[in-house]
Amino acid sequence: SSAMAEERALAMVTCTAPVNIAVIKYWGKRDNDLILPINSSLSVTLHQDQLKTTTTAAASRDFTEARLWLNGEEADVGHPRLQACLREVRRLARKRRGGSAEDTAPLSLSYKIHVATENNFPTAAGLASSAAGYACLVSALARLYGVEGELSEVARRGSGSACRSMWGGFVQWQRGERPDGRDSLAHQVAPEMHWPELRVLVLVVSGEKKQVGSTAGMQTSVDTSPLLKHRAEVVVPERLALMMRHIRERDFEGFGQLTMQDSNQFHATCLDTFPPIFYLNDLSRHIIALAHRFNTHHGCTKVAYTFDAGPNAVIFTLADTVAEFVEVVRRSFPPATNGDQFVRGLPVGSASLPEELLPHPQGSGLPGAPNPSPALQPGPGPQLVDDPSQHLLGADGLPRRCA
Ligand code: DP6
Repeated sequence: SSAMAEERALAMVTCTAPVNIAVIKYWGKRDNDLILPINSSLSVTLHQDQLKTTTTAAASRDFTEARLWLNGEEADVGHPRLQACLREVRRLARKRRGGSAEDTAPLSLSYKIHVATENNFPTAAGLASSAAGYACLVSALARLYGVEGELSEVARRGSGSACRSMWGGFVQWQRGERPDGRDSLAHQVAPEMHWPELRVLVLVVSGEKKQVGSTAGMQTSVDTSPLLKHRAEVVVPERLALMMRHIRERDFEGFGQLTMQDSNQFHATCLDTFPPIFYLNDLSRHIIALAHRFNTHHGCTKVAYTFDAGPNAVIFTLADTVAEFVEVVRRSFPPATNGDQFVRGLPVGSASLPEELLPHPQGSGLPGAPNPSPALQPGPGPQLVDDPSQHLLGADGLPRRCA
């Protein structure tokens, strides 16, 4: 065809994508292959100034095989979830081209691809790097092949939580009803500017790899936990409606309480799983107690914790509370052994503390004290990087820094 003659020899695109933190948790699938959840979930997308994944995707006539680099190390490109994302983006590209003749220089869908991806945060931070990772991969591939529009459905095929990283601000992933998953999509509930005072702190408790991964853990929960079934059918639908209202009204009291309750119920379903799954450790529980003591002292909800499939805490609070709470955390635990893992974020000031919030004896003597990150904020969805000097791959299609 005439289009064939105009095919480009090499195309390269770089995108960045954010991390998201769920306040109504996703836990459990009704379809493992399509990654369809048993309940809807809701999250806050974090700003990419602080935490982000960067991915460069390239396709070339000259590449002889598909290749992938994760943080500079070559990795297996045959991973079924990665292949599912690639297949879906190419299918959308084919569909789009079939429908319009104006595409002058389409990139051949048969060219092999090279992908390089990097996180600007330590994997040890225990943040859901797969969410940002797959959101970034899908964004970059879609740009590469000129695919526009709804892409959360494709990102979902990489990792369930990744579909929520396709949007900024406050994001809901609707479980959907259809068996083919076409209605299991993420959409924005409120933009990132909606709640300018909202802040997020990450307390790194442990850099250890988690004992039970999310995918395997939630499968066992679906198979064995009656509490999870009740949660998905009864509790989450009610909580979602309530959480949307708290967000709309910027009601931190309501938002914070429900965030803590939903995290606690998620961990209760893990305990209700057979054999049980334990993601929280002693230090996590000390942070929970500290947050409640802090709130009791103030007579209202000033900080809210949430924990995913690991012991690290994520704290939601408002700008005027950050300095005081960070000071309380620093004084409550022995000095961190895990160093300065977080270097990005807004500066945190210091605050003087009332007596009852000062160091408590239970905290001391615990290994690996939590290391508070600088304050993070909600932020936008995936971004295209215009500057070609930012590509992670060189013109030869190999990683720039470690070719
Ligand atoms: C506890 O999205 O990592 O973080 O879909 O199997 O890839 P897969 O699981 P994943 O699960 C995240 C679970 C969670 C809660 C949440 O982010 O909603």
